[in-house]
Amino acid sequence: MLSSERVAELVARATQAREHAYAPYSAFPVGAALLLDSGEIVTGANVENASYGLSLCAERAAVVRAVAQGARRYVAIAVVGPKELDLAPCGACRQFIAEFGLDIEVITLRSGQPTTRTMRELLPDAFDAESLP
Ligand code: THU
Repeated sequence: MLSSERVAELVARATQAREHAYAPYSAFPVGAALLLDSGEIVTGANVENASYGLSLCAERAAVVRAVAQGARRYVAIAVVGPKELDLAPCGACRQFIAEFGLDIEVITLRSGQPTTRTMRELLPDAFDAESLP
């Protein structure tokens, strides 16, 4: 269970990271802050492309950065969109985050207030690698 201070810190870091979003096509900047089990926070922002389908969400940008620095155990991720709009990770990001654990807590704003749900709640009946032959 995350402390309210930790939640506030993650939302603040996600909001800062949003400044670096590259979103010229949607004008919808998003920032994410991923809390590693070490206590370190790794941030991400959405990165769009002229070939729209290539656009990368902030959540996946944060996870990719963390994996690339050797970190695979995560406690939580906060996601903040433009202004204080309600936002929830897209389906692709849910599957991407779930790869690293269904106990990861996902913090999003609801009417401006941080709300925490687990990946298990956001992606019920998730596909997992144990189903693979
Ligand atoms: N986006 C994110 O970065 N995270 C989300 O949770 C939802 C959507 C991005 C993708 C695209 O660059 C822009 O927001 C509009 O969909």
